[in-house]
Amino acid sequence: NSQESVLNGIEQISGQQAKWYNIDIKDSSLSELFEKEEIEAVIHFAAFKAVGESVENPLKYFENNIGGLLNLTGCMQKYEVESMVFSSSCTVYGDTKSSPIDESHPRTAAISPYGTTKIISEEILEDLSEHGSLKTISLRYFNPVGAHPSGLIGELPLGVPSNLVPFITQTAAGIRDCLSIFGTDYNTPDGSNIRDFIHVVDLAKAHVKALDYFIKMPEHFDIFNLGTGKGHSVLEVVDCFEKVSGIRLNKRMAARRAGDVEQIWADNSKAKSLLNWSAELGLDQMMESAWRWQQKLSNN
Ligand code: WQD
Repeated sequence: NSQESVLNGIEQISGQQAKWYNIDIKDSSLSELFEKEEIEAVIHFAAFKAVGESVENPLKYFENNIGGLLNLTGCMQKYEVESMVFSSSCTVYGDTKSSPIDESHPRTAAISPYGTTKIISEEILEDLSEHGSLKTISLRYFNPVGAHPSGLIGELPLGVPSNLVPFITQTAAGIRDCLSIFGTDYNTPDGSNIRDFIHVVDLAKAHVKALDYFIKMPEHFDIFNLGTGKGHSVLEVVDCFEKVSGIRLNKRMAARRAGDVEQIWADNSKAKSLLNWSAELGLDQMMESAWRWQQKLSNN
């Protein structure tokens, strides 16, 4: 779901050549990567993540997200690569009423096949780590938004975005006619849902901290919430975007969206203390970077 042009952005930002292999994570040729490269640890981002799509096509999600994980961990075992940072999601908490939510909260029935793949993946990794030499850090993302401040890399949603922020920026850019606010009759201060929106740059930095943590990590499996610890409502995000961009969005109050959790935000104290990480960027910077990136996309 990405594009080769992203590599140019990465190289301009990091000043380093990003080596890459065009391999499907489910394919047996993945072992070539382990044959050719000295790999110390794996950060596993490669999975489908669109909730709505997973409801329409669950098998696609199970084949890719679970099948890919099994192929990857099989290669890691064969080539004795023992450290994995796994991209998980707050969706594993299900429709929780207890925010801020910490990692001791059990994984509960997922709201979508996408969420189910994250729960199953964590359970597979926990078992492999408890009964073998694998060490896993599972990072539970809350709502990643924004783009690199350079405007060189960012989210490339395919088709009509299901997520709030890309829909906002595409509405502002005139690509979408009208933003629908899915529900303003919830039991929240302004009636709209509350989420823990986290800048994707803060999220990325947490992955580097997780790699550093492997050296002193006492257990073989651990979980960290990656959120700011602050909840913002949908209407607050819309207001913030309009303030930052100077654009008044065409929007309508619409019915609730099936499967939406009323409110959820992170207790991120564990990541703060053990990973020595905390989110530094606020909603303004998230909206600024998202809008800058959309304008770059629109100008290309
Ligand atoms: C946020 C809020 C919508 C679009 C999903 C996944 C989660 C994670 C992040 C991967 C909700 C409202 C949205 C719109 C709206 N993905 N909204 N109008 O559903 O919290 O989380 O993406 O890890 O696993 O479940 O994110 O951005 O879709 O919605 O009013 O056009 O914005 O109702 O309250 P969500 P979202």
